[in-house]
Amino acid sequence: MLFPFLFCLFFRLGDSLFPTALLENYDKRVIPYYIDNETVFVNTSLPFIFLDAMYPQEQTATFLFEVCMEWIDKRLQYDPDAYNNDSMLFLPIGEIWTPPYNLYQTLENKVLAGKRGDYASIEPSGRVVIFESQFAKVRCGNNISMFPFDIEVCGLELYSNVNQSVMRFQGVKRNDSNVSGNSEFEIKCEYVFTKKSDNSDPIDQQPAVSFSIAFTRRGFYYAFVIVFPSVLITILTITGILFPYPGDHSSDTISIGLAAMLALVIILSVVADHIPHTQEVPLIGGFVMCCIFLCIIAVINGLIFEYLLCLVKKNDQLPGCLNRLFLYYQKKVSKKSTPRRLIKICSFLTFLVLQALLIWLLFFYVKVGWVSEKAAVHESDIVDLDTMELSYKSPQ
Ligand SMILES: *[C@@H]1O[C@H](CO)[C@@H](O)[C@H](O)[C@H]1NC(C)=O
Ligand SMILES: *[C@@H]1O[C@H](CO)[C@@H](O)[C@H](O)[C@H]1NC(C)=O
Ligand SMILES: *[C@@H]1O[C@H](CO)[C@@H](O)[C@H](O)[C@H]1NC(C)=O
Ligand SMILES: *[C@@H]1O[C@H](CO)[C@@H](O)[C@H](O)[C@H]1NC(C)=O
Ligand SMILES: *[C@@H]1O[C@H](CO)[C@@H](O)[C@H](O)[C@H]1NC(C)=O
Ligand SMILES: *[C@@H]1O[C@H](CO)[C@@H](O)[C@H](O)[C@H]1NC(C)=O
Ligand SMILES: *[C@@H]1O[C@H](CO)[C@@H](O)[C@H](O)[C@H]1NC(C)=O
Repeated sequence: MLFPFLFCLFFRLGDSLFPTALLENYDKRVIPYYIDNETVFVNTSLPFIFLDAMYPQEQTATFLFEVCMEWIDKRLQYDPDAYNNDSMLFLPIGEIWTPPYNLYQTLENKVLAGKRGDYASIEPSGRVVIFESQFAKVRCGNNISMFPFDIEVCGLELYSNVNQSVMRFQGVKRNDSNVSGNSEFEIKCEYVFTKKSDNSDPIDQQPAVSFSIAFTRRGFYYAFVIVFPSVLITILTITGILFPYPGDHSSDTISIGLAAMLALVIILSVVADHIPHTQEVPLIGGFVMCCIFLCIIAVINGLIFEYLLCLVKKNDQLPGCLNRLFLYYQKKVSKKSTPRRLIKICSFLTFLVLQALLIWLLFFYVKVGWVSEKAAVHESDIVDLDTMELSYKSPQ
């Protein structure tokens, strides 16, 4: 007689029960699996992912994200009539069983706001929904050969040490999720993979779900800081050295060349600061190297033409076989031509060829960027998720 009376005294408000009445005889240490021998399916999604910072040289990134988990705990089923017709009850997370999980291969990780006492919402069917905010530093991978048009893939993997027959994660991709990059990176897409395994390997028996997010870089920064100055420097160098001046004036080839080289090497070091120290040459590094190469060709040609001009000034004719070539040219093309004039024409032609090469190089760079901007990332392009050896095979 006494028990119902006490029960009413403690848990009733007017005609309805307090949510804490659900916790009578509830042991939060017991996984729901042990209540009815049924695997607990935990729907896991990330409603909010925010890229905080990317550390390209370490190939890591820090993320702020929210984990949403939904599962059914039969012990928490209730009849709304008894609870003020509420279709949802709230209980502190610490008072009920929650799916245990760890973040795989995270270098740092903290739960945000967890200590403030989050609440779980419970529906009459026993469906429990919780949200947790996390901050984690995770591994990322990319194929540097296309830098800065590469695709950076970061992975967040949740796993638990229990057997898959006890608990299983199910990855859910939400259509209302808010995934955002930062000032440098843009979201390309998000993928969810649920681990399904019938393998007998104990590690494979662990429930796990991974979320992969592919980012692309915004190309503007690199165009502004690297491509634009490199092109200007190269144009100036080629023009300064090879463009024929009227009269006897000649440019100081060596110092123009050295100044250009110095500037381009500094630009190259900016590239080096943004990539991991691998053995692959990134696209933009190749671009700057090509600019350096064009400058060197311009300097070498400039020196040769200068040397020939000096010889012509001294001897009034070109040396050896070049002179024979010149005489042939004089006979066939232009009777009035002088060696000086021929050298100037050659210099101008080299100038045109090098400028054309530079324009072609720039065109090639823009085209590659355009193509990779349009390219779609497919799930299968993200290789080897199990070992989290994240990387992206670019198409073609
Ligand atoms: C769970 O399974 C075990 C044996 O596999 C059995 O003894 C137990 O009664 C079952 N429990 C329920 C609630 O079905
Ligand atoms: C989990 O998701 C599946 C389908 O995506 C759904 O049928 C099921 O009801 C969900 N479970 C919970 C507990 O929300
Ligand atoms: C709940 O709703 C039913 C009808 O929908 C009503 O009869 C009942 O009185 C309500 N209970 C409470 C506690 O409001
Ligand atoms: C997802 O989109 C469908 C329609 O495409 C919509 O009915 C549904 O409510 C959406 N779900 C969420 C969680 O926004
Ligand atoms: C995502 O969050 C930002 C602010 O954090 C908000 O401005 C934006 O509207 C959100 N997008 C969606 C799709 O909810
Ligand atoms: C996981 O549970 C299944 C079914 O109960 C069992 O066959 C398997 O051996 C278990 N795996 C491990 C590693 O304990
Ligand atoms: C990067 O992509 C290129 C092709 O775009 C491919 O040849 C190369 O093997 C890839 N590198 C890695 C490490 O996947």
